[in-house]
Amino acid sequence: MRATLVSAAILGLASQAASIDPLVIKGSKWFNSKTGAQFFVKGIDYQPDITSTSAVRDPLADTAGCTRDLPFLKDLGVNAIRVYQTEPFGNHDKCMSMLADAGIYVMLDLSTPTETINRDTPSYDVDLLGYYQRKVDTFSKYDNVFAFLAGNEVTNAYNNTGASAYVKAALRDVKSYIKSKHLTIPVGYATNDDADIRWQLQTYFDCGSISDRADFYGINLYEWCGPTATFESSGYADVVKNFTSWDVPVLLTEYGCNAIKPRTFPEIAAIYGSNMTSSFSGGFVYEYVEEPNDQRIYWNQDCRL
Ligand SMILES: *[C@@H]1O[C@H](CO)[C@@H](O)[C@H](O)[C@H]1NC(C)=O
Ligand SMILES: *[C@@H]1O[C@H](CO)[C@@H](O)[C@H](O)[C@H]1NC(C)=O
Ligand SMILES: *[C@@H]1O[C@H](CO)[C@@H](O)[C@H](O)[C@H]1NC(C)=O
Repeated sequence: MRATLVSAAILGLASQAASIDPLVIKGSKWFNSKTGAQFFVKGIDYQPDITSTSAVRDPLADTAGCTRDLPFLKDLGVNAIRVYQTEPFGNHDKCMSMLADAGIYVMLDLSTPTETINRDTPSYDVDLLGYYQRKVDTFSKYDNVFAFLAGNEVTNAYNNTGASAYVKAALRDVKSYIKSKHLTIPVGYATNDDADIRWQLQTYFDCGSISDRADFYGINLYEWCGPTATFESSGYADVVKNFTSWDVPVLLTEYGCNAIKPRTFPEIAAIYGSNMTSSFSGGFVYEYVEEPNDQRIYWNQDCRL
């Protein structure tokens, strides 16, 4: 009798934990599919355990790590995390349901340092697509996975723009796979902010038929440095202007200059203020853990963060 009550209670908890309203893209905005409320990403980039020597660093398969970090994520008040490196194996149930229970959505990069398109020697094949497909299979069952990224800063200079053609092919094929599974999770791209090529990349990932192009666009933006910078002087105004009336959602997949300390993040007032909310869907501050470079991760040549 007691055992039955206990298991009923556990089942009750489990189904409660799994209930988070999926998000949906309509036009250039994200919405809660149940309430219809517009969704702005109040996010943080989350990739702890970067010093591990293990080849696999999947924080969403690390129940102890999620349990340790969840109170801090809740305290920060974030409603989303972006996770760079995960694997299609391992058990993600506990972490994903803890996050869902806290109302936290997850954006996932499909690539890893070893399963990726290399900007200097780009190639793309069925093995890489298979890896991306397995990742979709693994994570699409969670209602709080609201987006996949088909690449991160793969092209980062005028002389490696060719690599983006491979990324776009992968993006197209993952979209097609998701559609074949009757799923609706969007696939986007996270770009760097290189003045020589940012406009070209923005339009490249948005051109072609709907099945070929990015469902949303992420920018890693580090322009707003220090307390005296403004929306105009930082360069934010110019970036935002080029996304006026853009046809898909746009967000900051990383932000937070660290050239001037302490970091006070004045750009947050702009990101969630009227200058940006009509065209941008919020963003992810970089990042949850502090690393030797004070800000950013470079775990190997293939992973462009
Ligand atoms: C691309 O240009 C950069 C400097 O702008 C240079 O360091 C790099 O070697 C070049 N890469 C190739 C593949 O030419
Ligand atoms: C904005 O778009 C124009 C082309 O219309 C481009 O020349 C310019 O570099 C872009 N600026 C930014 C900040 O992306
Ligand atoms: C919004 O833009 C205006 C005009 O550039 C600027 O004066 C204002 O400071 C900006 N608001 C924020 C919160 O950055």
